[in-house]
Amino acid sequence: MRTLVVYESMFGNTAAVAAAIARALGSTDAVRLELADDRPAIGDAELVIVGSPTHGFALPSRLSRRAARAQGADASATARAGVREWLGGLAAVRADSAPFAATFDVRQAPGAVGAPSHRVRRRLDGLGFRTIGEPASFRVGPTAGPLLDGELDRAAAWAEGLRGLAR
Ligand SMILES: Cc1cc2nc3c(=O)[nH]c(=O)nc-3n(C[C@H](O)[C@H](O)[C@H](O)COP(=O)(O)O)c2cc1C
Repeated sequence: MRTLVVYESMFGNTAAVAAAIARALGSTDAVRLELADDRPAIGDAELVIVGSPTHGFALPSRLSRRAARAQGADASATARAGVREWLGGLAAVRADSAPFAATFDVRQAPGAVGAPSHRVRRRLDGLGFRTIGEPASFRVGPTAGPLLDGELDRAAAWAEGLRGLAR
């Protein structure tokens, strides 16, 4: 299944999860891993997976990215724009060729309150994507990470589970 993984990341944790997902799907599927900042086109992707950090119970914004930089995010790895802006410019997909879609976020807090993965999923639903699976949250300890033990394995398992749902 041709898969596109779109993400943004301030401290590298969402990037690590996105890479683990791409690796998990890469053995049998053609996977493109793209920064949202690069405004990737959906193209011929059959499955689109979108992931972001959680900033202020929401998707990162220009302001919150600046706050992340002030907290030490690597400026060279810090997107000027991200999932929020990419989604804002995304057109509706055709009903007869709608890709499957799934979403995840990376967060500190347990639970799903304010989880951007849920909002992104609703947005993709609204654009006609066939959303599958439960939005997933993967957790960091401190703001800058690292991810909690086992989260990359959980991300890989979540991605493999999507494959069975995308049919
Ligand atoms: C400005 C800012 C706001 C944040 N707000 C939240 C929040 O509301 N809930 C939460 O769980 N984590 C919050 N965090 C922590 C992020 O979840 C964490 O930095 C991020 O997931 C790390 O992913 P990254 O390495 O891909 O940037 C915040 C971090 C920053 C920098």
